[in-house]
Amino acid sequence: MSNLSDQLRGDLDQLRADGLYRALRNIASAQGPRIVIEGREFLNFSSNDYLGLANDLILKQAAAAAIEKYGVGAGASRLVCGNLEPYAILEERLAWFKQREAAVVFGSGYAANVGTITALVGEGDVVILDKLDHASIIDGARQSGATIRVYPHKNLKKLEDILKQVVGAPTHKSGRPARSPRILIVTETVFSMDGDLAPLAEIVALKERYGAWLMIDEAHATGLYAKNRRGIAEAAGVEDKIDITLGTLSKALGCAGGFVVGSQTLIDYLRNRARSLIYSTALPPAVVAAAAAAVDFVVGDEGQHRRDQLWRNVSDLKNGLSALGIQNESRTPIIPIIVGEENAAVEFSRKLFERGIFVPAIRFPTVPKGKARLRVTVTAAHTEDEIHEFLTILECVGATFLSRRPHSAGLRRGRVSIPEQCYFVTTCTKGRRPIFQSHEAASMAVGALRWLRDQGRVRLLGFVIMPDHLHVAFALRTQSRQECRSHTKSAESSSCGRDIPVATLAKMMKLLKGYTSHEIKKRFNIADSIWQNGYHDHLLRDRRDFESRLAYMHDNPVRKGLVKSAEEYPFSTAHPDYQNEIDRAWLEGIEESRDRNVAPTETA
Ligand SMILES: Cc1ncc(COP(=O)(O)O)c(C=O)c1O
Repeated sequence: MSNLSDQLRGDLDQLRADGLYRALRNIASAQGPRIVIEGREFLNFSSNDYLGLANDLILKQAAAAAIEKYGVGAGASRLVCGNLEPYAILEERLAWFKQREAAVVFGSGYAANVGTITALVGEGDVVILDKLDHASIIDGARQSGATIRVYPHKNLKKLEDILKQVVGAPTHKSGRPARSPRILIVTETVFSMDGDLAPLAEIVALKERYGAWLMIDEAHATGLYAKNRRGIAEAAGVEDKIDITLGTLSKALGCAGGFVVGSQTLIDYLRNRARSLIYSTALPPAVVAAAAAAVDFVVGDEGQHRRDQLWRNVSDLKNGLSALGIQNESRTPIIPIIVGEENAAVEFSRKLFERGIFVPAIRFPTVPKGKARLRVTVTAAHTEDEIHEFLTILECVGATFLSRRPHSAGLRRGRVSIPEQCYFVTTCTKGRRPIFQSHEAASMAVGALRWLRDQGRVRLLGFVIMPDHLHVAFALRTQSRQECRSHTKSAESSSCGRDIPVATLAKMMKLLKGYTSHEIKKRFNIADSIWQNGYHDHLLRDRRDFESRLAYMHDNPVRKGLVKSAEEYPFSTAHPDYQNEIDRAWLEGIEESRDRNVAPTETA
């Protein structure tokens, strides 16, 4: 026995060293925006209870009534003697809700994926997965014995390449298939750890072209998207083209369990062949009854109201994160904050925990190595103040953890993503008047730039001071959500974070131009106005824009024959003395997955 414990302890120690150790936290309250852990209240930004139904009175009453009538346990597998009445009601409600012929409920979403995939495909068949598919899909595919092919995340070209390869190819090991091979594509519609959406209409077109089956996992979409809240397939208008639709009762519906909807034949087949359904005790009747109440809730007016509140909260949180320089393209309540290194993500989460915020670090194997993150989720139950409190604490704690990658290394590798609040400002004199009267004034200007940077609003990305030109690339962040919001309203673009708050920019410009440069003058004892006539600024919209301007900044003195190389120029971030002035926090390397068709990453 001790041998077993010794070996396992060794493995656990290794997990700890790699920042991959997981521990359970006991929560002594119901799910909600505020939870109690070890006697202390925490703000919870980690739950999938998107509509705040897990602790809703209507669901609790439905559960209590079912307990009263049916007791707590189902007694056996549904096929033995566990198929209590509430199951029939729930399956009927689900088929109606999803507008399909029939539904079957499983003990969990995990069991639904594993049971369905293993029932549908086996040796000689092919199952094609998105690289970021959930662990339950991967496990189902592995257990099925079918050949697994994986396409890089949302890469339709690779998906088509795989389809071309497998359609018509003999896949049975003996080369003599017992029946024609089945080809099953499985994708999530909302990806659980990244919060992005699958290109469903395009996947449907491919599956039709190549005659494959398509199974979608709408775990994080059910109850949230499209007019009738059925999910992304409804939003994309392709529901009738989907062969197998899986959903969970455990996320927006606030309960537990998984289900599949489709044709009556498919459902009959699963009832006969899905082992996780046949060989597992049925869900307790209370949960099943609560889930039926949740379906009614979601399709009703109150459901619509909650959903509106959820999208308002998502938008508030995303705007607030953008204002902190944390960009995110998510169109879902799942908003990952990518940290990178596993230990850093754990430490980030721990620091937030110390300040009363509960957001767990998500690490390998749930997400790829080096892509550790905080998976932030917001629900309809969060208040504006709670979101604000979270953002304020995140801003205090975040700076250290979001600045792991030196941008210059990334720039050299040609892999830098630029936050969209980056600006490039050029100040120039008319004619060839020197912009700074002396060498000393120029170095004071550098001091001024640093000072601006130290105000916390401005992140200096680079600068070059030439006799008649000053180039500064900087990023600006808003101080308050109010500012961010008022800016959003006035900005032409609807997405906050892509535009700089106008008032803030004006203030900065004034400082740069010397109109209200008292602080600079006082601090650096500059007698003359150092900023001369005219400036123009550019919002840097993409990486190439930034790179070319940075290169221009650094090359310009050389081109003008002032120095032989940019490094020689004393007032430039290309100069070794100023290398460190480049602010790293805003620049993050993108590691494009170069993997081809390798085993997918597990997701928890
Ligand atoms: C995409 C996806 N599918 C399936 C599941 C499993 O669902 P359940 O938690 O109900 O077992 C999850 C759980 O997080 C998920 O994210």
